[in-house]
Amino acid sequence: MAKSILILGACGQIGTELTYALRQKHGKDCVVASDIREGDATLMASGPFELLDATNYSALEDVVMHYEIEEVYLMAAMLSATAEKFPMRAWNLNMNSLFNVLNLAKEKKISKIFWPSSIAVFGPNTPKEATEQHTIMEPSTVYGISKQSGERWCQYYYEKYGVDVRSVRYPGLISWKTQPGGGTTDYAVEIYHKAIETQTYTCFLKKGTTLPMMFMDDAIKATLAIMEAPETQIKIRSSYNLAAISFAPEDIAASIALHITNFKMKYEPDFRQQIADSWPSSINDDSARKDWGWQHSFDLEKTTKEMLTNLG
Ligand SMILES: NC(=O)c1ccc[n+]([C@@H]2O[C@H](COP(=O)([O-])OP(=O)(O)OC[C@H]3O[C@@H](n4cnc5c(N)ncnc54)[C@H](O)[C@@H]3O)[C@@H](O)[C@H]2O)c1
Repeated sequence: MAKSILILGACGQIGTELTYALRQKHGKDCVVASDIREGDATLMASGPFELLDATNYSALEDVVMHYEIEEVYLMAAMLSATAEKFPMRAWNLNMNSLFNVLNLAKEKKISKIFWPSSIAVFGPNTPKEATEQHTIMEPSTVYGISKQSGERWCQYYYEKYGVDVRSVRYPGLISWKTQPGGGTTDYAVEIYHKAIETQTYTCFLKKGTTLPMMFMDDAIKATLAIMEAPETQIKIRSSYNLAAISFAPEDIAASIALHITNFKMKYEPDFRQQIADSWPSSINDDSARKDWGWQHSFDLEKTTKEMLTNLG
C-alpha cells in the first residue's frame, strides 16, 4: 500500500511545490496538504486539503489518525524578516509546531519527519566563506535561534527516542509558482516580478551582499532525496548544509539585464541588511553530497531563464 503523507504549511512558497512533487510521486490521494489558510486554486484542486493549525496538537493528531499518516513534512514557520517584528509569535510557532511533530513520532503515531532548517542558524561570528557543516553557530535573529534550537531538538529526539527526523539547511529559495513568505532573500524573487512589470527594481539589500541561494526545483529535489535515502545514509541528525549558488544583488541584476536590456536597479537597504550581514556568503555542503548523493542542477543563468520564461 502507498504511504500517507501530511504537509503542514502546504500553501507557502515551498509547501505548494512540495505538495505537487509528492502528489506526482505517490499519487494525489496519498498526500494531504494542510495550512491555516487556503492555497491558490490550482493547489486546492490538486488533492485532499485540511485547514489545520500545526501548533494545535490534538487537531494535528486527529488528522494524522484519520488519514493514517506515516510521514510529515513540517513547512509551517515564521520566516526571518517577519520574525524580527513578532519575536514571541515566531518562537511559539516555530518551536511548538516542531515539538508537536516530534512528539507524534516519539509516540509512534508517525514514522518519519522532514523539518527544514536554514542558513540562519549561522551568525556574525561564523566564517563566511564555504561555511562548514560544523562551525561557530551564534545566530543573532529570532528565526536563527529557533532553527538552531530546532536542530538540537531533532538530534535529541533521534538519539533518545529513535525518531527518524531528517533536515536540510535551505539557503534562500527562488521560485515563480508562489510568492515568498517574509524572508531576507525575498529580493531574489521580487526582482524578477519587477523586472518584467516595470524594468526597474529597488533592492532592500546593498551591493556586494553575497548570499547562498537555490532554485526551487533543486530544493524540492534535495527534500525528496534526503527523505528517500536509506536510514543508514543519514549520518547527520541535526541538519545538513545544502548549497547550489551564491550571488549578490548586482549579479542577479546582470543576469536579468542579459534578457531585459533596459533593466535598472537601485539600492535602498532596510533592516534586512543587518540580517543578511550576519549570514554566510557560501556554504560547504560536502556531507550532503557524500552521504546521500546531493547534486544541484540550476546555476544563476538557468534560474534567470526559468524565472523570466515562467513569469513573462
Ligand atoms: N523560502 C526560503 O527561502 C527558506 C529558506 C530557508 C528555510 N526555509 C524554511 O522552509 C519552511 C517553509 O518556508 P516557506 O518559504 O515555504 O514559508 P512560507 O511563509 O512561504 O510558508 C509557510 C506556510 O505556513 C503557514 N502557516 C503559518 N502558521 C501556521 C500554523 N500555525 N499552522 C499551519 N500552517 C501555518 C502559512 O500560512 C504559510 O502558508 C520554513 O520552515 C522556513 O523556515 C525557507
